[in-house]
Amino acid sequence: MSTKKINATITGVGMYAPEKVLDNAYFESIVNTSNDWIITRTGIRERRILETGGTSDLATAALKDLMEKHNLLAEEIDVIIVATVTPDMFFPATACLVQDNVKAKNAWGFDLSAACSGFLFAFQTGCSLIESGRYKKVVVIGADKMSAITDYTDRNTCILFGDAAAAVLIEPTEDSAIGFKDALLHCDGQGKDYLYMKGGGSLNPATHETVDNKMHYIFQDGKPVFKAAVVGMADISYELMQKNNLTGGDVAYLVPHQANLRIIDATAQRMGVGKDKVMINIDKYGNTTAATIPLCLVEYYRAGKIKKGDNLILAAFGAGYTWGAAYLTWGMD
Ligand code: COA
Repeated sequence: MSTKKINATITGVGMYAPEKVLDNAYFESIVNTSNDWIITRTGIRERRILETGGTSDLATAALKDLMEKHNLLAEEIDVIIVATVTPDMFFPATACLVQDNVKAKNAWGFDLSAACSGFLFAFQTGCSLIESGRYKKVVVIGADKMSAITDYTDRNTCILFGDAAAAVLIEPTEDSAIGFKDALLHCDGQGKDYLYMKGGGSLNPATHETVDNKMHYIFQDGKPVFKAAVVGMADISYELMQKNNLTGGDVAYLVPHQANLRIIDATAQRMGVGKDKVMINIDKYGNTTAATIPLCLVEYYRAGKIKKGDNLILAAFGAGYTWGAAYLTWGMD
């Protein structure tokens, strides 16, 4: 029996960002804020909003984009993993709706809930399925319709979030020089009091009272989350680099979750990675939760900025708390 290790590598990417744009001037008109405050405190200039439909529509559009660009047939897909905290419904899973939309008749799939770390957790899961040797084509989609759970009267949160989806196809490769190398992932429920949506689940099912108390919206206590995110994302990225004997010079790009430009800058600094090696698109999309990291990958790849052999460090921090980093070597031309 061969003991040759199967490597998992990204062989296709796709994305979807809705057309409707909410710029900072719009928020100046609905809450007590300013373009200047938003840009200096977060780095956000615009976000996209899905006017009709749910997260499965975002995810389906991203997957269709991937399928078209990379000649992937629906029946070839073995597994669909959708990372999201805004599923269309509690059940069935968004992955089932996406499966039906593209008619991936041979696929199974599931949703994965890890908030802003969702793509990282799903990517590790997808790579493990490939490495197990049991599956050949796994699709991992990060998709969130954050506008569905955003309170547009709360200036602390409404300026931060947007809607989008992005997808990657993961396949096996025998080329050990490329693909997924390593990941460090964590969760700590001590963070549950700082970033949550309390209503609608089994603990607080929907009632008139939960609606009146705005329990179906995102709540965030920004300061403690900010502090934890700076330390969490920077430390885990540094630890992953140390574990794999990487210096800042070995890293072509840091691909950070896009929650706040100041958190991203702090992470890059700790890693010894220059600003020109940090993927940024928070200015255009805001925080799209599970979609931010794959959205960066798609845009930078399509702009010709990522080359085969480039070492990437993906890093995220989010509700839970959840956080982690992944190291991969890009394998697409
Ligand atoms: N416009 C103007 N002022 C605002 C504002 C807005 N949109 N939102 C908050 N403020 C005010 C606050 O009310 C506060 O006023 P006060 O001092 O009179 O009470 C002041 O700005 C400073 O608030 P603070 O919370 O200290 O701001 P901040 O610098 O921490 O920035 C966040 C706020 C939300 C941008 C920041 O905390 C953050 O990015 N947190 C982490 C986000 C994150 O990583 N989440 C995890 C993944 S989702």
